[in-house]
Amino acid sequence: MEAVKGAVRRRLVARAGGIDLTQMHRVPDRLSWPLDRHLADPVARVGELRAQDPVSKLVTFMGMDIWLVTGDAEAREVLADLTSYSTDVRPYYGRSGAENGDIGGLGFTDPPEHTRLRKLLTPEFTMRRLARLKPAIDRIIEHQLDETEQVAAENDGVVDLAKTFAFPIPFSVICELLGLRDEDRETFRALGSARFDVTIGGAAIMGAVGESRDFLFAECARQRTDPGPGLIGQILREHGDEITDFDLGGLADGAFTGGLETSASMLALGTVVLLGRPDLYAGMATDPASVTPTVEELLRHLSVVQVAFPRFAKDDVVVGGHKVRKGSCVMVHLPGADRDPRTYAAGDRFDPSRATSSHLAFGYGFHRCVGAELARMELRAAYPALARRFPDLTLAVPAEELAYHAKSIVYGVESVPVRLHG
Ligand code: HEM
Repeated sequence: MEAVKGAVRRRLVARAGGIDLTQMHRVPDRLSWPLDRHLADPVARVGELRAQDPVSKLVTFMGMDIWLVTGDAEAREVLADLTSYSTDVRPYYGRSGAENGDIGGLGFTDPPEHTRLRKLLTPEFTMRRLARLKPAIDRIIEHQLDETEQVAAENDGVVDLAKTFAFPIPFSVICELLGLRDEDRETFRALGSARFDVTIGGAAIMGAVGESRDFLFAECARQRTDPGPGLIGQILREHGDEITDFDLGGLADGAFTGGLETSASMLALGTVVLLGRPDLYAGMATDPASVTPTVEELLRHLSVVQVAFPRFAKDDVVVGGHKVRKGSCVMVHLPGADRDPRTYAAGDRFDPSRATSSHLAFGYGFHRCVGAELARMELRAAYPALARRFPDLTLAVPAEELAYHAKSIVYGVESVPVRLHG
């Protein structure tokens, strides 16, 4: 999602005639406030805005109108619209298509290129293919629970679940999905953690993004002669002559940018929410029927992806009764839409008894998350395994004092220190 932030900034720069926003230390508050949160909740201003006008002009920034959509029906209308918007930032680099080394993956492509690439990827995410990953997912979770126990034993029973549970599980699952060799995973983990380490600064992050992407391009080239057991090998075996190493590397990279921080945040924040509701946490271990609704309600309630890929209007378009001018940027606020009381009776409350799977935490329409079912498999396996292994788990610091990410596109928490045995 750092790539998304960078791309948005660069696109705004291109539109604004060369003022370099990347040199700005902070994006101004009148543009970034919708990313603010209070613990699990969007700030109250989001709900107030939705009640007033679910589609509103946030700001005109360096000549570009930026709209914020906070209503559920309006969000679906924008996200499902195949023709009025573009998410393709590449023309604004002065280069386009496959020659562009900076951005790959589905999120930044429009139909028909998007349709072509997505068609190659979706068969890898059917329930049948994903079922083959289930034993590996269970093994990875058990391994991380062992590590959690071991680290805690060396630290008076206290351990940071972000480090031993929330981040490593989706990381290893994506390596397994792609079919990376065991010996390459450590190298990639080092590149990956630099890439997602917000403390190392923008330039270093961009460097790490480049290096980990180069690693994946090289891996795709290597698997062309020796296809591995995972997604990369499978696409090469079935469609090798239809896809370049660049495009395949972009798809593999998209699995990391789309699937790592998002799933890690859900595991970390979701655990914090569950520990605040001991009945639900215990239910994860003892009441299998409660798992799916609780996971769906956590997805809706947390909506960790705070804004969908920015949509740029290709023509004038009317949304929620407003005329959005050609060239404007439309930001769909997913937590805002997911708490819209016109759609969800629970609104701002966390209430698994009213859970639905048709929330917008995975987006909607043709850019909807390809990894949604994989993410669900991970969450439905990981929370119960945690609760079974550590039924007396408690937070080691109050939930209000955890270090939550400020203004990040994927909302999350820096660390989750817990006591394993109460
Ligand atoms: C709980 C975990 C996850 C959440 C909350 C999440 C959320 C999202 C959302 C909201 C979008 C759509 C953005 C938009 O329409 O603008 C998206 C797209 C995407 N996600 Fe996920 N995601 C998760 C896990 C994953 C996983 C595990 C993978 C792959 C391994 C993945 C891969 C992708 C890709 C490739 C896209 C782009 C799809 C396209 O543009 O057609 N995601 N995700």
